[in-house]
Amino acid sequence: MSKLRSVIKGCGSYLPEKVLTNHDLSKIVDTSDEWISERTGIHQRHIAADDEYTSDLGLVAARRALEDADIPASDVDLIILATSTPDQTFPATATTIQAELGIHEGAAFDVQAVCSGFVYALATADSFLKSGQHKCALVIGSETFSRILDWTDRGTCVLFGDGAGAVVVCAEEAGETPDNEGIIASRLRSDGRYRDKLYVDGGPSTTQSAGYLRMNGREVFRHAVSKISGVIEETLEIAGLDVEEIDWFVPHQANKRILDGTARKIGLLPEKIVITVDKHGNTSAASIPLALDIAVKDGRIKKGDLVLMEAMGGGFTWGAVLVRW
Ligand code: ACO
Repeated sequence: MSKLRSVIKGCGSYLPEKVLTNHDLSKIVDTSDEWISERTGIHQRHIAADDEYTSDLGLVAARRALEDADIPASDVDLIILATSTPDQTFPATATTIQAELGIHEGAAFDVQAVCSGFVYALATADSFLKSGQHKCALVIGSETFSRILDWTDRGTCVLFGDGAGAVVVCAEEAGETPDNEGIIASRLRSDGRYRDKLYVDGGPSTTQSAGYLRMNGREVFRHAVSKISGVIEETLEIAGLDVEEIDWFVPHQANKRILDGTARKIGLLPEKIVITVDKHGNTSAASIPLALDIAVKDGRIKKGDLVLMEAMGGGFTWGAVLVRW
């Protein structure tokens, strides 16, 4: 008997116009292109204009995803926005995007899992769609991390950038075998004991300010590869698939060394990794849908391909989603 399955119908992305290169950064803080490139693989990042908000970036990405899917906004009955840089403390930035799209039905809310946000949002949408509660979802990752960076801290400000990506996911009747298109399996994890390794030192309840990002980079790095590869292995096991069957690996773009290390640990060929961190930096919840959109539009990801997405971020939170494109 066939069941409901969440099928990705289209994707879109948006990057702000302004590009900040490593060379530009070396004029702001004591750093160099060589240090940043060697340690992270990042060469440049995009920075939102002063009057561009997270909702603006997300809205453009969402419109492009709807156009790509050839689905009118009026069909969307669920909007989940993954972000840690909302326009305001409340309401949820997803409701701003909902209003701008002219949608007055269904539900819209934000998900906050930092760099794992898109994976969390996609897995959440999958549950709502499979349950039959909603029919068509916009899952968006949008961030303006430049607003929460301490631009005097060279250990963090060189790593992040702004951007947005989105996918349209709809419930369809489909068989339950891994050959059918759609989301096959997902796994979400968190462990709050590590919440002081990567955090923002402000918030409405504590400082009544937005705060700035603080990170123990070495500790994040130490945990990243083992936690990410562990959750990938769990996800593949749930799906009953082997790592050799993966066509494209679309990881959260934190650092090229983490991506390469994870691929090596799980036994994935380096040519299967979609890499955008060199041009985008770490755009947190936006990085996976941005990378997805680029690899779909340039023809690398094709219908029928098995695509693995994964992320790890503050909390720590981490997770993976396996999709048949
Ligand atoms: N330019 C030049 N020197 C720098 C810079 C910089 N931008 N930043 C730090 N340094 C210096 C430090 O001050 C230190 O100098 P010292 O030895 O004189 O004290 C030296 O470089 C080494 O510093 P470390 O922090 O130990 O450098 P490390 O080799 O660990 O690299 C990095 C730092 C790149 C942040 C690394 O730890 C890392 O990639 N961690 C993962 C963090 C990450 O990706 N976070 C993203 C969010 S989490 C996620 O998305 C998974």
